[in-house]
Amino acid sequence: MQKADKIYIIGFMGSGKSTTGRRLADFLKWSFVDLDELIEKKAGMKIRDIFSEKGEEYFRLSEAETLKETESFSNAVIATGGGAPCFGENMKFMLENGLTIYLKLPPDKLKDRLAKSGGKRPLLEGIGEDKLEEYISVKLGEREKWYSSAKLIIDCNKTAFNGLCNMVKKLIV
Ligand code: S3P
Repeated sequence: MQKADKIYIIGFMGSGKSTTGRRLADFLKWSFVDLDELIEKKAGMKIRDIFSEKGEEYFRLSEAETLKETESFSNAVIATGGGAPCFGENMKFMLENGLTIYLKLPPDKLKDRLAKSGGKRPLLEGIGEDKLEEYISVKLGEREKWYSSAKLIIDCNKTAFNGLCNMVKKLIV
């Protein structure tokens, strides 16, 4: 791949993809794009309504289609939904079209974050706090093989935002 003009941030729900993506975009003076927001704009519906009214399969098709549309973007940091890399050819597409960054956090940390802010996420609906960590461990186990194929894996317990910026600078400049 030539010098990347797109960065795809991937990782489990609650790993901080949008927050980190926004900060990284500011740092690089690139634009920031949230894939879920693009999907919502296209559908004219909130993600949770897409799930409840049209179903997950419809959402995944829309997610894949919207991801493909980012091919024409340049100088953009794109935060993806937690499931995006794990369906169809999405991860292959991201690996071929930009710099992929996995924000890695263990299940107990993800649980702490999601217990506070998980409410709007359709996949977590109906999962009590007592079952949340177990759900995350299983789902993360299923998804790890896609996440860990990212070009850059950031252990968020060890690497602060400055460290991430330094690594990214080396890879894209
Ligand atoms: C999903 C994660 C969500 C959103 C949708 C499905 C997933 O995004 O795309 O609810 O399958 O993990 P966040 O990771 O931003 O919560």
